[in-house]
Amino acid sequence: MFYRRKHLLAIEGLHPPEIGHLLELADSYVLLNRSGKTQRDLLRGRTLINLFFEDSTRTRTSFELAGKRLGADVINMSVSTSSVNKGETLLDTAATLNAMQCDLLVVRHNQSGAPNLLARKVDASVINAGDGTHEHPTQALLDALTIKRRKGRIEGLTVAICGDVLHSRVARSNIHLLTTMGSQVRVAGPPTLMPAEVAKFGVTVFHDMKEGLAGADIVMMLRLQKERMTSSLVPSEREYFRFWGLDAEKLAFAKPDALVMHPGPMNRGVEIDSAVADDPVRSVIKEQVEMGVAVRMAVLDTLSRGDGRNDA
Ligand code: NCD
Repeated sequence: MFYRRKHLLAIEGLHPPEIGHLLELADSYVLLNRSGKTQRDLLRGRTLINLFFEDSTRTRTSFELAGKRLGADVINMSVSTSSVNKGETLLDTAATLNAMQCDLLVVRHNQSGAPNLLARKVDASVINAGDGTHEHPTQALLDALTIKRRKGRIEGLTVAICGDVLHSRVARSNIHLLTTMGSQVRVAGPPTLMPAEVAKFGVTVFHDMKEGLAGADIVMMLRLQKERMTSSLVPSEREYFRFWGLDAEKLAFAKPDALVMHPGPMNRGVEIDSAVADDPVRSVIKEQVEMGVAVRMAVLDTLSRGDGRNDA
């Protein structure tokens, strides 16, 4: 048992054996998940609350499915933040959740740091399901599992993360995970969509897509996150696609066996061409969704055991 933390709030700061443990356990859950069988005794009597302050399809349903496969009682709470003071709501919610004796709390919030705040206020183990532009740790774990199962390793691979890096919590979690596990990580995108100090995370920055893709083993596309943009950072979707959209012509610069990934939801014709997204040989986008359930089973299982926990 290499993961002794109470929560999963971020990938940043995790050590290779902790990530390795979660990936190995997740790998062992892939077949169980495919068989449709359950191991209901593992989380029997535990309550999992999905607390989503932001929209989600894949993440919420896969946490729900993962919890049910392991026998937990799953409650879904969707909360609108439009007209309320977020800080107050969160703390009020924390008090309610404590009163409900929740064991596992899965949180998505549009404010970076919200899950960390909740983790200090609730008794439950908190899992970050995406906070603002900060992190989305289970997405990075499912991406890593997909890569590992396809390529046999993570170490030594060249991974190009392309597009709207600035607003992407998926990019941040993946950068931390992949650099920690020994990949060479590149980020490619227009200067307006690149965080100022991204290079300090040990990645190489490209402002030309074809250069960024040259010789890559993995091409990870990001959604253009217009809902997080406060000003106009891209000229037009047509022009964005021309320079930054992944189509067959740009993909040809990557290795011939390079895999195409996208966390979803996709803007087809904006950051990715449908022919590439649906390519049965190169695209592993559906597999990423499948791996999401196995990864979340592994995370729920690990956190609910709590053996020798250090409460970090
Ligand atoms: C991502 C998210 O919500 O951060 N989606 C997901 O969880 N699969 C990426 C995105 O919204 O673009």
